[in-house]
Amino acid sequence: MLACALPGRRGLAHRAGARLPASRANRTRANATQSVTETLVLPTRGAGLFHVIDPHVFDRALLDELCDLATRVRTLAKSEVGARALRDLLPTRRAMLYFTQPSTRTFLSFNNACHILGMRTSEIRDPSTSSEVKGESFDDSIRTFSSYVDVIIMRTKEAGRAAQAAKLMDSIPRPVPVINAGSGSDQHPTQALLDIYTLARSFTARGGIDGKVIGMMGDLKRGRTVRSLCYLMRHYEGVRLVFIAPPQFAMERDIKTYLDHHGIAYSETTQLDAVLPELDALYVTRMQTEWDTAGESRAVDLKPFSVGTHELTLMKRDAFIMHPLPRGPEIDPLVDHDPRAMYWRQERNGMWMRVAVLIKIFGVEHIVMALAAADSEPPFAGRLA
Ligand code: CP
Repeated sequence: MLACALPGRRGLAHRAGARLPASRANRTRANATQSVTETLVLPTRGAGLFHVIDPHVFDRALLDELCDLATRVRTLAKSEVGARALRDLLPTRRAMLYFTQPSTRTFLSFNNACHILGMRTSEIRDPSTSSEVKGESFDDSIRTFSSYVDVIIMRTKEAGRAAQAAKLMDSIPRPVPVINAGSGSDQHPTQALLDIYTLARSFTARGGIDGKVIGMMGDLKRGRTVRSLCYLMRHYEGVRLVFIAPPQFAMERDIKTYLDHHGIAYSETTQLDAVLPELDALYVTRMQTEWDTAGESRAVDLKPFSVGTHELTLMKRDAFIMHPLPRGPEIDPLVDHDPRAMYWRQERNGMWMRVAVLIKIFGVEHIVMALAAADSEPPFAGRLA
């Protein structure tokens, strides 16, 4: 029993077993599998989510739906019955993970998200092992991937590559969806989704994201996670952003223009201590040293843009700290022990949110909703798995 494998989570493992009796669960799963087989679950444009290239594809309704789906999936996955039902959702679908820029959590969370849904995965992480070294063009490589799989999930060092791949897909007879898992220093839309999910989940008891004061700190100029997250903020009422960064790494003008255009309040400062008491959440980022051309990062004194035990004393008791990770010295590991450290849970949220994105792309959300209804646990029940 899963109950044995998850000590301390009493009640979770047998939930589906208790509330989704085996016979009913089997029926639900059989129905789900039948539906999957009948429709062959091919992603279709126009009906739902297809390419995920930048955050503009999401509106508030879709964000809320994805957050809800992520929570329902994570609840289902806590039981053996639920996990098997999820694995039966997309067993005939295949994903290509094309990650030519280093990644730990985005790669692993997408890989495991696919496996949670029964999908098989192929990967290229080192272009020197692909026919690109023989001179094959980027477009030809992407088209080749699309011949074998049903979705391409990609991260590249160069900005704009995911958009280029999506455009190519839109011009061929067998297009497959493209998910941008990070493109240059430009966009990281699924990171923004998991950040929204983490914020929404953490603010559940405080009325959600609307009206909150959110600090963003670090290398805001070259950090694609904060850029993508800023775009999504327009879907929340009364949010105020506080940018805390060294002047040479301040938020770029294009994002500030966007915020102005959408009436999102923001301010800029170099004084973390002065603003910490007013923040409901602090999103910390590392220096993006990989974009240095002449050691620019090393010229920055990071101490004023770091969180340690002193900064914790200045924060609200119910505020929390996020970080897309990996971290550098900007968060002292001692902070990990504080209940306001949200980044490890944020990292895990990424897997559930990426499961939700795949569910939505392949249009099987109605099956997940049926499985979840058969369970009966309400979403956002306040547990953090
Ligand atoms: N947050 C993030 O994108 O982490 P990785 O670079 O490890 O994927």
